[in-house]
Amino acid sequence: MPENVVRYGFVGTGMMGREHMRNVDLVDGSKIAAVFDRDEGSRREASTFAADDSVFFDDLKGLLASNSVDALVIATPNDTHGAVMAEIFESGVELPILLEKPVCTDIEQVRWLSEAARQYRAPIWVGMEYRYMPPVTELIQRVHAGECGDTRMIAMREHRNPFLRKVENWNRYAERTGGTLVEKCCHFFDLMRFIAQDEPVRVFASGDADVNHRDERLENGRRPEIIDNAFVVVDFASGLRASLDLCMFAEGAHWQEEIAVTGTKARLECFVPGHRNHDVDAEIEFSPRATDRPVERHAVEVPPDVLRAGGHHGSTYFEHQKFRKVVLGEGSVEVTLEDGLKAVAIGLAAERSAREKRVVSIDGLDFD
Ligand SMILES: NC(=O)c1ccc[n+]([C@@H]2O[C@H](COP(=O)([O-])OP(=O)(O)OC[C@H]3O[C@@H](n4cnc5c(N)ncnc54)[C@H](O)[C@@H]3O)[C@@H](O)[C@H]2O)c1
Repeated sequence: MPENVVRYGFVGTGMMGREHMRNVDLVDGSKIAAVFDRDEGSRREASTFAADDSVFFDDLKGLLASNSVDALVIATPNDTHGAVMAEIFESGVELPILLEKPVCTDIEQVRWLSEAARQYRAPIWVGMEYRYMPPVTELIQRVHAGECGDTRMIAMREHRNPFLRKVENWNRYAERTGGTLVEKCCHFFDLMRFIAQDEPVRVFASGDADVNHRDERLENGRRPEIIDNAFVVVDFASGLRASLDLCMFAEGAHWQEEIAVTGTKARLECFVPGHRNHDVDAEIEFSPRATDRPVERHAVEVPPDVLRAGGHHGSTYFEHQKFRKVVLGEGSVEVTLEDGLKAVAIGLAAERSAREKRVVSIDGLDFD
């Protein structure tokens, strides 16, 4: 192997695993060395991105024992992450891991992983790609540089298409995803915490499954019960408040994600088009209170090959550039396991809030 080539092992090569493979391919000094997926169709699809000498394993055990990779990328369904991580911990192999979000789907797994990972000495990075969408990264940097003054409100909106079809229909079952407010919205809860640099104390969510997947039938005639629209309000310890407005039957919307951060001095907003809108640039708008109107609106360009490599506005590429540095020992983990678990805990609290129609208090990984 030439020096500084990172050999990746991919566990789960469905839609997101292949997005990782395509992006790793764009990062210099990377090699798709090994693949394990239990579905033949996913393995076949992955083979079109793999190198001629990539090895396809029949099980995770074989991949771990092969000594052929420097890092792992795990993109299996949400409810399998715990078992995959347990197998890695038990194997004694300690490799840097990029684990897709959400880390897990219920509070018992949150507690178990939080404890079990303490013995693991290699870095674990949770795939919170939205932090790495270039317009979102710019917004975060400018807020943290103080351009808005003291941040008091964060408003997020995602208006998008319904959930896509997945292998085994796993995303149609709330118990396999953790529920929409975990599966989809952990990204936003992570962004809220990261932008606010603060911890949540309570959450109120109103949401339901009103429009999507109503004609679908799962095993035993069961209907998918996944929330497709919600408003979520999160109160933070400092008094800062954040909101999420989620609609998953809004594929006609021009912008898919909109984030507005308002502080004592100004408001900063970013607007991100959906992945079907590759010809539209994201935008940033800056509106100080002192000028009574926006003083800046500009496009945030992303290289076309990076946009084409995934469905998340280039974020997976920028995430991999940083993860590679961690693997080479030149950088530190930016999205820790604790970040990932806290985002799951907020999502689970929001699911409970929506179900029980009440405010739910949060304290670290615990909620009532
Ligand atoms: N960060 C993001 O923006 C983002 C976007 C989409 C998906 N995801 C996450 O990525 C993960 C995968 O989602 P997806 O959309 O690729 O789903 P998918 O159904 O397209 O792919 C999942 C793949 O994992 C395989 N698999 C299942 N159990 C396995 C196991 N134990 N070992 C090995 N392979 C296994 C399946 O056969 C399938 O090929 C999920 O956790 C999802 O939430 C993240």
